[in-house]
Amino acid sequence: MQIDLSGKSVLLGVTGSISAYKACDLARLFVKAGAQVHVVMSPSAERFVSALTFEALTRNSVLTETSESWASELNHIEIGKKCDVFVIAPATANTINKIAQGIADNILTQTALAFKDKILIAPAANTQMLAKTATCNALTFLKNNHYNIIHPQDKLLACGDTGSGGLAEPTEIFFEVAKALCSDPFWENRSVIVTGGGTREKLDEVRYISNFSSGKMAKSLSVALYLRGADVSYISTMGFDDMPSAITTIKADDAQDILEATQHSIKKVTTHDHKVKIPYLFMVAAVADFTPKEPQSGKLKKSALGDTWSVELKQTTDVLASIDKGAIKTVGFKAEMDTQEGLNNAIALLDKKGVDAVCYNLLKDAKSFGGNENEITFITKDTQVSLGRADKLTLSNKILDESKKLIHEEEAHV
Ligand code: CTP
Repeated sequence: MQIDLSGKSVLLGVTGSISAYKACDLARLFVKAGAQVHVVMSPSAERFVSALTFEALTRNSVLTETSESWASELNHIEIGKKCDVFVIAPATANTINKIAQGIADNILTQTALAFKDKILIAPAANTQMLAKTATCNALTFLKNNHYNIIHPQDKLLACGDTGSGGLAEPTEIFFEVAKALCSDPFWENRSVIVTGGGTREKLDEVRYISNFSSGKMAKSLSVALYLRGADVSYISTMGFDDMPSAITTIKADDAQDILEATQHSIKKVTTHDHKVKIPYLFMVAAVADFTPKEPQSGKLKKSALGDTWSVELKQTTDVLASIDKGAIKTVGFKAEMDTQEGLNNAIALLDKKGVDAVCYNLLKDAKSFGGNENEITFITKDTQVSLGRADKLTLSNKILDESKKLIHEEEAHV
């Protein structure tokens, strides 16, 4: 899934931690996403990684104590003016404490003090250095003053101690920075439930009935929502790799699991009375309509079954049709293979299951599953908008733009 940060500029601050080498991977992730990347290094960072490495990765001159120039834009005032966000990764305990105090005694802390927009801080230090009262207070102060703190990992640290202090994974820092760049006031802090993947209905303990759904659409939608700042609960049978850790993930196997997890999540997001934003449910999961009536325990033996095997199936509960939709907006997904009736079936879903919108997708054949692209028409009672064919993340963003329109003035009265 390629997140697009073209047109955005990221300022990456690197301080003197052994994990400074991981900032090279981080710079690369931003470059690959199409962002312009500028780097500022503290003098001690240069003892771990050379400025030339970052210059080669970003194709931009790196700001250091010695490269600072007042004849160009490579100085601690101008470099920040052309960037949309500043992320300091790794940030040592020393730098964290200094920034909290407004101390600007090196090129990096000067750049931080001069920076006008959002600053994200990814700490990396020995456990004791982070646990010291001064550092804890500094982090709390920064958090309360609109700095984003990207939590360090608990792990075996390079110094040999085990505990909190390892730099967050570059992909996690990348996600957090991308989120800071993509946030959308409509979705920010809104609770959103996304279900995804094909369910597995057990025949016995080793065999199941399923479908070809890849779960990619739900995953893309969840990431798009996360990037816009939503509070995402992702209930799925698959696709949990490489997700931002801030997304709440709930693993489900069969239709009953999806039903219970969805009901539970809806209850949770609709009973928080401090939440003023109406929650959404995107029901992308390919929930089996039928499940074996009597799944067997253990492993059924071929010899006991004979030449043919008839399995009696019973209908599953329809999650979308049965849930209480009183306090949420719901978007159903309808994949059809019938070119004649597909669109009508999708339109009919609005009333049949009482949903606010339907994402309709006409499948050509079984090969249509699992691809990185899709083609969707967004249908409501009043409109049918063709979102065209695109990669699933681009389509997700289009779906979110259309879904916004499901709320008019009613939110003001919540
Ligand atoms: N869905 C659900 N619970 C089920 C089955 C489907 O919540 N047991 C949801 C899907 O997640 C999707 C929508 O309903 O959002 C799709 O409905 P679909 O199964 O295509 O519609 P049906 O009316 O059941 O059509 P079909 O006869 O083609 O299965």
